Amino acid sequence: KAKFTVRSFKSTKANGRRISMLTAYDYTTACLLDETGVDCLLVGDSLGMVMLGYENTLRVTMDEMIHHTKAVARGSRNALLIGDMPFLSYHISVEETVRNAGRFVQEGDAEAVKLEGGQGMVDKIRAIVKAQIPVLGHLGLTPQSVNAFGGFKVQGKDFETARQIIDDALLLQDAGVFGIVLECVPDGVARLITEKLEIPTIGIGAGVHCDGQVLVIQDLMGMFRKMRPKFVKTYADGGDITVAAVKSYIKELRSGAFPAPEHSFPVDENVLAAL
Ligand code: KIV
Ligand code: NA
Repeated sequence: KAKFTVRSFKSTKANGRRISMLTAYDYTTACLLDETGVDCLLVGDSLGMVMLGYENTLRVTMDEMIHHTKAVARGSRNALLIGDMPFLSYHISVEETVRNAGRFVQEGDAEAVKLEGGQGMVDKIRAIVKAQIPVLGHLGLTPQSVNAFGGFKVQGKDFETARQIIDDALLLQDAGVFGIVLECVPDGVARLITEKLEIPTIGIGAGVHCDGQVLVIQDLMGMFRKMRPKFVKTYADGGDITVAAVKSYIKELRSGAFPAPEHSFPVDENVLAAL
């Protein structure tokens, strides 16, 4: 499989093939996911919740993001690697924003960055793009705005907010993003945006009409049991498999079935005799 790049985004939409994106936060998982031929790996700030156990994504720092991005970069070859800019890393000034986006590329080996927001972020997006760093947009239920939204709620249900998301999508395209994640917006709104844009939409809880989909890998694998949003489809019982496997391990080590001779290193009889 060929390397997937930001240039593949537009052509893939034009060809009508759907773009696959998954989150990854560590080297082992990145190796496995890259083997599948998935198009893009996103080191999401969702790592705050699924890897670090925070209540939301707001606590995640640049250093934590870079640490995990580096690990994923070592394991991913063909997938496009996207780093997710954490809360406050792109809110203060254009200068700080470009510096932080640059860290993802220079230290983290990411090939692109993602950030949340519409109109209010256009100047930041333009500056990052100008620094030759491709940007993926993110609209709808942008989790870093949880306090402003008053909770995790579907966005764009009424005329005004739907209109706002559509306008933001057009603004982001104009600012030079190579794609836009649409999170938890009504299916018809996501369809309208997908039809209006030349760049692909990547949906998560955004209906069946987006040009691609993204899921958190722990959700897909059934590993994260604390929350299961409606938009998640679980493709394996990873949590159950892990618990069952570890229970077998504990049982076998208690019974003496593990370790067995084949897991041991035989001693040299002469050495043993001389001890
Ligand atoms: O952090 C994340 O995992 C994300 C995706 C769900 C889009 O932003
Ligand atoms: Na995110």
